[in-house]
Amino acid sequence: MKFLLYLALVRSLLVHGRASWGNVDWDVIIFTQQWPITSCINHLAHNPKASCNLFPNMTSWTVHGIWPTKLGTIGPNYCNKSWDFQESEILNIEPYLIKYWGNIFGEDSRTSLWSHEWKKHGTCAAQLPSLNSEKKYFEKGLEWVTQYDYVAVLGQHKIYPDDVQTYTREAIFAAVKDMFGVDPSIDCIYNKKTKQHELSQIKLCFDRSLHLVDCDGIIGANEEKVLGNCPFKGITYPASVR
Ligand SMILES: *[C@@H]1O[C@H](CO)[C@@H](O)[C@H](O)[C@H]1NC(C)=O
Ligand SMILES: *[C@@H]1O[C@H](CO)[C@@H](O)[C@H](O)[C@H]1NC(C)=O
Repeated sequence: MKFLLYLALVRSLLVHGRASWGNVDWDVIIFTQQWPITSCINHLAHNPKASCNLFPNMTSWTVHGIWPTKLGTIGPNYCNKSWDFQESEILNIEPYLIKYWGNIFGEDSRTSLWSHEWKKHGTCAAQLPSLNSEKKYFEKGLEWVTQYDYVAVLGQHKIYPDDVQTYTREAIFAAVKDMFGVDPSIDCIYNKKTKQHELSQIKLCFDRSLHLVDCDGIIGANEEKVLGNCPFKGITYPASVR
């Protein structure tokens, strides 16, 4: 009996013990990219007076964030409240962050998304030596956004931005899975005006060694094979903000 308890303790330490920071432990990192056109359409739909920062150089998907996540939960978030965002740390990569990790919402400051992502998620990612500074966190996003280029990945499966054409969830999922060998999670936003489900975000998951793993255990993953909240078919991948 004592031995079994001991085994359970060892197992629990192995499973949960690594870099345990109280209740801020996590299993995977979700790397979320957004399709800026869908983000903008949705932003304008919620506030007709709003505007978007869609620069001509935003020709790819852009980073939303790098989110350490405990499977089956959301978060942890805000792991170190005394670690504030400092723009000076990332000044020399800002042109790239504007292009690949830019704030789409015209009303918000240039640094608002970065500040939010750093405080909410970056301070949790900072448990890993490879992500333990603002510079490393944001550079990792820039590295991954070029490595996981969904315009190219989807294009190889003839899935192109188009305001009329629709695609199936399975086709989008298969394009990403064929390329990277893991289950992504794919999200859509329902547009009440056009009555269409618009492709909005694609998530890839990494373990704590930053190797790709299936996203199956994250929240928003359902029992079906294809993860995320998109409907089975009729998904648009908008080409423009109409
Ligand atoms: C929290 O952030 C502060 C400021 O950067 C730092 O000095 C401290 O070591 C951090 N705490 C942990 C547990 O990393
Ligand atoms: C992208 O465009 C924005 C807005 O014009 C500019 O501030 C930024 O420096 C550009 N970034 C790159 C890498 O060209």
